[in-house]
Order: sequence, then C-alpha cells, then structure tokens
Amino acid sequence: MVTLRALALDDAPALTRIYSGTSIRHTTGKPLTLDQAHHKIRAALVRAAETPRAQWSWGILQEDDLIGLISLRRRTPVMGTISYILREDSWGNGYATQAAQQVVSVAFTTAGLNRLEAMHHPDNPASGRVLIKAGFARVGTADRDTGVGTVPYELYALETADA
Ligand SMILES: CC(C)(COP(=O)(O)OP(=O)(O)OC[C@H]1O[C@@H](n2cnc3c(N)ncnc32)[C@H](O)[C@@H]1OP(=O)(O)O)[C@@H](O)C(=O)NCCC(=O)NCCS
Repeated sequence: MVTLRALALDDAPALTRIYSGTSIRHTTGKPLTLDQAHHKIRAALVRAAETPRAQWSWGILQEDDLIGLISLRRRTPVMGTISYILREDSWGNGYATQAAQQVVSVAFTTAGLNRLEAMHHPDNPASGRVLIKAGFARVGTADRDTGVGTVPYELYALETADA
C-alpha cells in the first residue's frame, strides 16, 4: 500500500528521478533538472499555504521510497482535476491506482469537491486504466496543444453521488 505525504525540499533529487525516461514521454516531454525540482517543490509549498486552497501535491511513498507525485487542483469551487506521475521502475504494481483512490477520497471530503476530471495522452492507455480503476468514466476527448500540434486527449470524469 502506498502512502501520500507533503513534499519537502530535500525530495528534489528523487523528483528528478521520477521525471525522467519513459515517465515523461507523454507528459512534460523533458527531464526535470535539480533546480527545476527545487522550484516545483517550493511552488507546491506556497500553494499549500493558500486560502482557499486550490492545489494539493503529494509525494507517493512505497515504504520509504518516493516513487511518484500526485496532484489535485481546484478548477472551480466544486470541480477539480488530478494528475500523477510515477518513476518508471515502480510501474505495474497498482501504486498509481492506490494513490489516485486516496486523492479521490480527499477531493470529495477535505476539499469539498463534487466532480473530478482527468485526461491522458491517447498513446498512454495505462493512465486510462488507472482512472477507470479509481472509479472514473471516459467522457470524451479534449484537444490539447502539445507544442507540435493539437492532440485529442482522453477525458475522464467522476462525480459524487450528490453532485
Ligand atoms: C500511468 C502511470 C501513472 C501508471 O502507474 P502504475 O503504478 O503502473 O499504474 P497501476 O499499476 O496502478 O495500473 C496500471 C494499469 O495500466 C495497465 N497498462 C499498463 N500498460 C498498458 C498498456 N500499454 N495498455 C493498456 N493498459 C496498460 C496495467 O495493466 C494496469 O491495469 P490492470 O491493473 O487493469 O492490469 C505511469 O505509467 C506513469 O507515471 N506514466 C507517466 C506519467 C503519466 O502518463 N501520467 C498520467 C497523466 S495524468
């Protein structure tokens, strides 16, 4: 079972290992430098202190190993989006699914949201499986400008029963 925790500045080296190799092929496209990792963590800590809170970022831990990052962003007062990335050597163990399930639970309780959305690159079916296993349903596509053209991302949504 993975656990989630807030990021700390000394997670930066682990973050650079997460944002590398195949993990970035369908996400940022670029490896993260140590400086960028520090910046990313600082930005997450600043956003964590905002009221009302619009972003939650957690490190995903398998025992003591920081294997990934998962974020929840409030887009409207009641709608949010989730995104995640796991270090390549941790894939295939159900870890992303476990992390997503925990974030869904926070979104519908602490964050007070009633709808979540997420999307993934069409060539990244593993991410779609994670969303389905976390309770999302595919609702269509959303065009995203990837810098080298527009790509129809697969779009998923999950609503609470009282939404
Ligand atoms: C997507 C990602 C988070 C999956 O992490 P993970 O810990 O391996 O996920 P899980 O083990 O919980 O589930 C993966 C599922 O995808 C399936 N899968 C893996 N490769 C697949 C493929 N090529 N085609 C279809 N399904 C695939 C697995 O079989 C599993 O489903 P199952 O349990 O029904 O068998 C990870 O690959 C990743 O970090 N990718 C890069 C970043 C990214 O794409 N993030 C998503 C954008 S928000």
